[in-house]
Amino acid sequence: MVLVDLGTGALVAEPEEPATVLEPSADHDALATAAGGNAGPVAILFPTFADGRGFSLARILRDRLGFAGEIRAVGSLIPDQSQFLLRSGFDTAEIADRDAAETWRKTLSLIGRSYQPSARNPLPLRWNASSEAAVELGRALAATDDLIERIKLTAEHIEGRVAFSTSAGLEDQVILQAIAKSGVVKAGADFDIFTLDTGRLFPEVLETIELSELRYRIRIRLVSPDAREVEELVSRDGVFGFRQSIDNRKSCCEIRKVRPLNRALEGAQGWIAGLRREQSQARADVPMAEWDAERGLIKINPLADWSDERLNDYIDANGVVVNPLHAQGFVSIGCAPCTRAIEPGEDPRAGRWWWESEDRKECGLHVAGSETSAESVAQGEKAA
Ligand code: ADX
Ligand code: SF4
Repeated sequence: MVLVDLGTGALVAEPEEPATVLEPSADHDALATAAGGNAGPVAILFPTFADGRGFSLARILRDRLGFAGEIRAVGSLIPDQSQFLLRSGFDTAEIADRDAAETWRKTLSLIGRSYQPSARNPLPLRWNASSEAAVELGRALAATDDLIERIKLTAEHIEGRVAFSTSAGLEDQVILQAIAKSGVVKAGADFDIFTLDTGRLFPEVLETIELSELRYRIRIRLVSPDAREVEELVSRDGVFGFRQSIDNRKSCCEIRKVRPLNRALEGAQGWIAGLRREQSQARADVPMAEWDAERGLIKINPLADWSDERLNDYIDANGVVVNPLHAQGFVSIGCAPCTRAIEPGEDPRAGRWWWESEDRKECGLHVAGSETSAESVAQGEKAA
């Protein structure tokens, strides 16, 4: 067994003091004991590489217990986990032999910087979500054209939970497959994938969600609106009250979509959505990453710069699971009563709230104020 330094990728000598070994099931008392006393090295055991509990233990040792000594990962580990180990507060990993060390070193060298202060790497502070971090991430995303790479960069840059809201539309299905292919969830990244189940979705949307879960082996949460709010809304405005006025429609979207979204995003540091600049005039300046000051998170649109043609070609080439309604002329799909199929040549969003004028057709999910102007982010993207 040899020890690899996660900060530099170099092999390091085993310290003389024996490490305190923590099982992944260690409770708070065991952690506090390991963190106290002489602060000698702590080794956290990974019984299988898919067991992510060790990441949380290291975070608790660093963040809650202020442990500044060496944290070592031992057990079943793979090089792909190196970045998450580093970000969770680990200093070293115990690996089988010197040959394996070379692969670890190469994987670590792909990470441009380390994000976590630690005993061996006291340098940079962790990257809390901020407007600067949003600009930096926007630049990093724009520097690559590869979607899976963009997902990996998002997982690397954002400390904490990354939410992905999926409507099971074409863009979201592409992003979902890329998340699954990227392996970031398996490697321990905290991704929360959810759909806002408004109560009015097409059955085909739910079928698409289930098929995707099976195909990509990934869980998609359904987030419901508050039952009492929905009851009050329907008894006030009627079952299809949203057809009667724009105000009613906005109240319906507010209760069935916007509030549940805000609840689901609470505590998240990042939010992935599928907006593209080509989708509509209102989205023509959508940045790849922006600081959402209201929600205190970085919003990422990894497909912001994709054209319709690129999206469709990618879906064909990669066998992305898509909603069968797309084959029946539905393009942009929202709730069933508020979506219709479109004719060839019609605007892609013409089938959404078709009785309203074009400039009002947003449901409020994507209109929250943003501190980082599109312009400054665009500059970041250009500089990349
Ligand atoms: S909307 O604002 O007009 O409804 P659109 O259908 O274009 O949005 O989708 C844009 C993005 O909003 C999607 O990529 C997704 O991130 C999010 N979104 C829209 N509807 C839902 C939903 N029901 N559940 C989760 N996310 C959604
Ligand atoms: Fe209500 Fe229609 Fe908005 Fe869905 S899209 S929340 S049904 S108004």
